[in-house]
Amino acid sequence: MTNQNRQENTWKLLKSLHPQPIDLSRVELIRKANVEFLAQPDNLIDLLPSLGLNDEGIDEFPKALHDDCGHDLRIWQYPIQFAPYIAFLATLKVRSYLELGIRHGGSYIATVELLERFHALEFAIGVDIIHCPAMTTYQSINPRSRFVCINSQSPEFLTLIENLPSLDLVFIDSHHEENQCRREFAMLSQVAQMVALHDIFNIGCVGIATVWQEIKALPDWTCFEFTDQYSGLDSFMGIGLAVKNSRLAEETVCKQL
Ligand SMILES: C[S@@+](CC[C@H](N)C(=O)[O-])C[C@H]1O[C@@H](n2cnc3c(N)ncnc32)[C@H](O)[C@@H]1O
Repeated sequence: MTNQNRQENTWKLLKSLHPQPIDLSRVELIRKANVEFLAQPDNLIDLLPSLGLNDEGIDEFPKALHDDCGHDLRIWQYPIQFAPYIAFLATLKVRSYLELGIRHGGSYIATVELLERFHALEFAIGVDIIHCPAMTTYQSINPRSRFVCINSQSPEFLTLIENLPSLDLVFIDSHHEENQCRREFAMLSQVAQMVALHDIFNIGCVGIATVWQEIKALPDWTCFEFTDQYSGLDSFMGIGLAVKNSRLAEETVCKQL
């Protein structure tokens, strides 16, 4: 089977999966919390499970979090990685956000809600090759958010990102295959100031680790890693954040003023 055929089969399979509608009422926990509280990683580590975690691949979550899996926002992230990542983003005052690969939409919604507590977002876009029912409901409570159902490997995706007025942060968490991830970074790094990759430290996603090492070797980007692990489990997930040096310098200058 050629790579192209394998890729097409994967997309066909993805299109047959059905994301769950998620309960958005937990968003209030973020909207009502104090901003100083949310800026502390330890507080976020406690808050994230109460927003609801995903239960696909539940064996990758520690037993202590199993009761928090399978309901509410279905966030598909490790709190011990996602919390310091978000707290770091808070210091960078993110202006716009695109998540490529949103599944049920929970991590996207949590990210958008948290980022907006630290700095107003001009827009937020969730992208997935499969439809996501939660996105319509979410747009009704956050009109700056929109969902685009599109294949990242299609010319339409390129048109979408090239026509954005500006793009500050992208989170790539789509098909965890090396060539697709490399192509997505190549496209998005042309238009975004910051690009985050999910699964840079996952024993099941060696291709993503390879792409992350290539990004770390690029001269114009500074890279940060959020890869803490729960004890007693293999290595899973892991977030890498690459920030353009020019974007990082802006924040440093702001702090000095
Ligand atoms: C691991 S899930 C995303 C999880 C989500 N970011 C979260 O944290 O909850 C991967 C998603 O990527 C989407 N995806 C895979 N290949 C894609 C492509 N070529 N274009 C757009 N979305 C894609 C899948 O449909 C799936 O919903």
